[in-house]
Amino acid sequence: MSRTVYVNGQYLPEEDAKISVFDRGFLMADAVYEVTSVIDGKMLDFPGHAARLQRSLEAIGMTPPCTTAELKAIHREMIARNELVEGLVYLQVTRGAADRDFAYPVGVEPSMVLFTQAKNVVDSPLAKHGMKVISTPDIRWGRRDIKTVQLLAPSMGKMAAKAAGADDAWLVEDGFVTEGTSNNAYIVKPDGTIVTRDLSNDILSGITRAAVLRFAGEAQIKVEERPFTIEEAKMATEAFVTSATTFVGPVVEIDGVRIGDGNVGPTARRLRELYIAESLKTAL
Ligand code: PDD
Repeated sequence: MSRTVYVNGQYLPEEDAKISVFDRGFLMADAVYEVTSVIDGKMLDFPGHAARLQRSLEAIGMTPPCTTAELKAIHREMIARNELVEGLVYLQVTRGAADRDFAYPVGVEPSMVLFTQAKNVVDSPLAKHGMKVISTPDIRWGRRDIKTVQLLAPSMGKMAAKAAGADDAWLVEDGFVTEGTSNNAYIVKPDGTIVTRDLSNDILSGITRAAVLRFAGEAQIKVEERPFTIEEAKMATEAFVTSATTFVGPVVEIDGVRIGDGNVGPTARRLRELYIAESLKTAL
């Protein structure tokens, strides 16, 4: 079935959804994006994703192409037109089309594109059995707090993981884990404390991370926001990742070493259930 894709104010069949070859999103990765998950036809954490989009746009010197209310209406319209029950809405805003030049063009209209992807995000096999990760050097640029579409380095990390028979890679810089290729990374210490890297330009400020840390606090689970090493992670009782599409995804193996007893741990399971149940209460 052909999806309906949003391109610059128009809802089009996917075959007709086109962007200029001069678009700077295509030529320079001069674009930012958001991914919002959908369960039961409703978006989880939409206000967080809309706020982060604003921050990303500001950071690259762009003004938002529409208001948050308009953005929400377009997302809702996309879910309705595509009859999306479970999956995600992808949104990308680029600086627009102009002659190729490293300097930003002046007075160019930004491009905005949205599409939906149906996906079983709740009953995913990786959530049930846990994922294996490898570690690999973090070769990305220094502003990972901006959600840009420069995704070649994380794609290469993910491919290295697949080649090694694993599911994902944790990126390491100066001896410490920054984050996963497309998620934030966590370990659980033997005393039950969750450890995850503190926010800075080095990692993306995950919308799921913020919610999960809030729910962990409410459930009296202790949280330490600081960098950790792969060696510390290998000795943890549990490990997991968070993102809009994995929610809380348990990690059961790091660089071939089993974490805990090699099964999905109680903290990750509990936080996943909490995240889904609590986020659904405010889903739009
Ligand atoms: N990725 N870190 C990185 C590098 C990410 O790409 C993502 C999300 C996250 C988690 O952020 P959030 O909880 O807001 O989804 C952390 C999305 C899902 C993607 O690129 O598909």
